[in-house]
Amino acid sequence: MADAARPKRVFSGIQPSGNLTLGNYLGALKRFVQMQESGFETIYCMVDLHAITTWQEPEDLRNATRQAAAAFMASGINPERSILFNQSQVPAHTELAWIFNCVARMGWLGRMTQFKDKAGKNRENASVGLFAYPALMAADILVYHATHVPVGEDQKQHLELTRDVAIKFNHDFKVDFFPVIEPVIKGTATRVMSLRDGQQKMSKSDPSDMSRINLTDNEDTIRKKLRRARTDSEPISDSLQGLEGRPEARNLINIYAALAEIQPDEVIRQFAGCLFSEFKPALIDLAVATIAPVTEKMNGFMRDPAEIDRILGVGADNAASIAEPILHETYEIVGMIRSRTM
Ligand code: TYM
Repeated sequence: MADAARPKRVFSGIQPSGNLTLGNYLGALKRFVQMQESGFETIYCMVDLHAITTWQEPEDLRNATRQAAAAFMASGINPERSILFNQSQVPAHTELAWIFNCVARMGWLGRMTQFKDKAGKNRENASVGLFAYPALMAADILVYHATHVPVGEDQKQHLELTRDVAIKFNHDFKVDFFPVIEPVIKGTATRVMSLRDGQQKMSKSDPSDMSRINLTDNEDTIRKKLRRARTDSEPISDSLQGLEGRPEARNLINIYAALAEIQPDEVIRQFAGCLFSEFKPALIDLAVATIAPVTEKMNGFMRDPAEIDRILGVGADNAASIAEPILHETYEIVGMIRSRTM
């Protein structure tokens, strides 16, 4: 099928490997909600199988998975309108990932910067799963024939690999079966940076908790972290170009813009000439006003873990009913006999 003729279907995922951050919220969750509201068919997943490519305490993983589901719902994902589930409940992901392990090349995976960063110097000691991670990610997306994938900038290379896997599979088997997906990396918050170092991405795995705002932080903590966020002593310039070479300053302007849902140059217009000591109180109030209600709703959902598990189960059933026929057809294309009666 020509890609333009395919029905639009959105898929994205988040690893439940710790607290979700303001980066996840602005770069991913908020945009997932916008896509749900735009009337797309939307499928969102807690990628627990990706999380275990690095060590996770089992009880922490279970809790983080529920917490991520709570964050999706608190941000506005409605499980009646979007499919919301955890990856390991739909085995079609790992089955297709195996086939993709045989399509993707070692060289492609070895070039992935996330693998290089996470494996560090001691590559011999990294899990095989960490290396094969992008093939599972391609399977997550392609097992639904998803066409659009909203992510932050750090996932761009993985999505390029997903396109390469689809192109190579279609070419090798002489079919037009998997869509060549569109990465959707848009908005002012595609790369929210650390509050301690404007050159580093805000990340749930940063050893310093002061580097990020967690969606579980209370109001006092949010205030403290933003008050202490690194800046410089220059006033805010009157143009975005004036912020070049000032990554911490640029980051806070971008965060403000994303929270207020305006463009960064609009923020510059409002605050040109102000010192950060004057800008920060406005940023802090805006951050608290945006995040506190989300945190409160998350806490509400977390009071009923059985209900979260029920929602994830229904989501997984719905996800499986889309994925299984696509997986079945993939097996046929590859040449596997499918003759079981149950
Ligand atoms: P993960 O769990 O690291 O992040 C989830 C989403 O949040 C975005 N994000 C950010 N956006 C802006 N600024 C930041 N500082 C920031 N930090 C994180 C990420 O770009 C991502 O969109 N491999 C993926 C999970 C995954 C996936 C998929 C995504 C697995 N399968 C299929 C899309 C489609 C990951 O580790 O995301």
